[in-house]
Amino acid sequence: MTVHFIGAGPGAPDLITVRGRDLIAACPVCLYAGSLVAPEILSWCPPGTRIVDTAPLDLDAIMAEIAAAHALGRDVARLHSGDLSVWSALAEQTRRLDALGIPYTVTPGVPSFAAAAALLRRELTVPGLTQSVVLTRTSGRASPMPERETLAAFATTGATLALHLSIHVVEEACAELTSFYGPDCPAAVVFRATWPDERILTGPLAELPGLVRAERIERTALILIGPALDPTDFRDSALYAPDYDRRFRPRGAVGAPGETSR
Ligand SMILES: C[S@@+](CC[C@H](N)C(=O)[O-])C[C@H]1O[C@@H](n2cnc3c(N)ncnc32)[C@H](O)[C@@H]1O
Repeated sequence: MTVHFIGAGPGAPDLITVRGRDLIAACPVCLYAGSLVAPEILSWCPPGTRIVDTAPLDLDAIMAEIAAAHALGRDVARLHSGDLSVWSALAEQTRRLDALGIPYTVTPGVPSFAAAAALLRRELTVPGLTQSVVLTRTSGRASPMPERETLAAFATTGATLALHLSIHVVEEACAELTSFYGPDCPAAVVFRATWPDERILTGPLAELPGLVRAERIERTALILIGPALDPTDFRDSALYAPDYDRRFRPRGAVGAPGETSR
């Protein structure tokens, strides 16, 4: 018996991995994290699957579900939104599983920041502008921020910021960040990226809170800030420069372009 933690992606069911879908189809128990997992994804559960929404459960109750499946030798598909590497409660669950000696696997998913960047049709790292993305959040009831992980500390780098779980404090966050990025810095809010009701707001940092207020966005949204969101003046990367010497295109190589046929 194995618990398969699966990143279900940002919303659209076709953004789950093939591996994740196959695991769901093979597990007689499916625990999923509430409203952020699309119902279509649950339709891949085999007939007779025990399907449990874990949103109203506490950690002990979730572990009781897993222990019951373990006792019956039934594999569990454990679905979380986006990817499991950020804000998924993976650590606290795997710590319990380790203590109980229950095996598990982890299958990645498309994180919401990547889905939001795709909707904006932007690369978050642009040569000469920024080469880093900070995935962060502001303090919440469930998780206070460690003392040194302040918005100001991250903002001093000028990196692209992907602010999760923070739309309710968009006003305060943008006010604080304006002193680092400037009022005209490109910014965006993506609400429920890849869901049928997704919404995309873009504008200068100083105007973002007003846009959010006007649209009444209060949950499940990502705030993205940084010059890479509207890159006008930047140089090409060296990667595709004609004089760049790299392993698969050594300088001076002659012949057909990198093309294969089957
Ligand atoms: C508990 S965290 C889960 C993050 C998730 N593990 C991931 O990989 O993105 C929930 C927060 O992620 C962001 N989020 C998750 N899904 C989203 C989506 N489809 N569109 C926009 N933001 C999303 C929002 O900031 C939301 O408050």
